[in-house]
Order: sequence, then C-alpha cells, then structure tokens
Amino acid sequence: MSGTIGILNGPNLNLLGTREPELYGHETLADVEKLCRDAAAAHGFDVDFRQSNHEGVLVDAVHEMRETVGGIVVNAGAYTHTSIALRDALLTFPGPVVEVHLSNVFAREEFRHHSYLSDIAAAVIVGCGPLGYRFAIDLITARWS
Ligand code: DQA
Repeated sequence: MSGTIGILNGPNLNLLGTREPELYGHETLADVEKLCRDAAAAHGFDVDFRQSNHEGVLVDAVHEMRETVGGIVVNAGAYTHTSIALRDALLTFPGPVVEVHLSNVFAREEFRHHSYLSDIAAAVIVGCGPLGYRFAIDLITARWS
C-alpha cells in the first residue's frame, strides 16, 4: 500500500474547537491533523490532510487521492447525509475507506442516522472524538498495509 493515508474533512470542521464544543470538543482541526500525523508516523506512514467546505473540492480531492494514497479516512460532515457525488467518487477509490464521525451520530437527530458512505466504507467509527481518526489510521495500517 502507498505510504500515504488521505484524511478528508468536510464542511464546518475548520471550526473545530469553537464550533459546538459540547458536541465536538475543544480540540481544533490543527490538533486533529497533528494527531493523525503522529498516528500515521508511528506506523511509518505520511498523511495528506485536507478540509473543504465545498462538495466539489472534496470530490476532486478523492480523484487526486486515487493516484496518491493507499487508504482514505473521511469525515464528510453534513455531506455524509446528503452527498451522492462524494459517495460516487469514493466508489472509484481502489483502497479502503474508513468513515469517521467525532460525535455519535446515532444519538443525535434522525437525519444524521443515514449516511451515503457507511455501506461502501470498510469500517465506520463514531462517537470517539478525535481519537476516532487515530483508530481509523491504526485500522488501515494494521489491516491493509
Ligand atoms: C460530524 C457529524 C455530522 O452529522 C455533522 O454534520 C458534522 C460533524 C461528526 O464528526 O460528528 O459536521 O461528521
């Protein structure tokens, strides 16, 4: 597997740390990026860490990552519940995709219970906060590298 893991973050995740901290915690996206870099480095991997508020930018990122990364960790934010385009893009990715959500989406509003990504993901990790990203990286490196 490629020595790089792609980490894709969707809309509003740039506001982590100040956005609804009772739900998402006080750690910023920069903290999450550092956690991911450290977790990947522990297994000898690099990360390509991205965030966008725009659906098409996330789709383009998946297209790029088809050529450059071995696995993808995706927290698509609200696009999880709406985006067939992101689902279709991820379906073209040949490696494992692990879906992560900081919060336990199943303990929240009903519209968050449906994901366009879960049934095409190799694994889904919810409700673990930023640690979920680490678990996803550990899983990808342990199972597919
Ligand atoms: C989220 C859950 C989504 O429902 C929400 O729209 C987000 C964050 C999470 O990490 O818990 O933006 O993906």
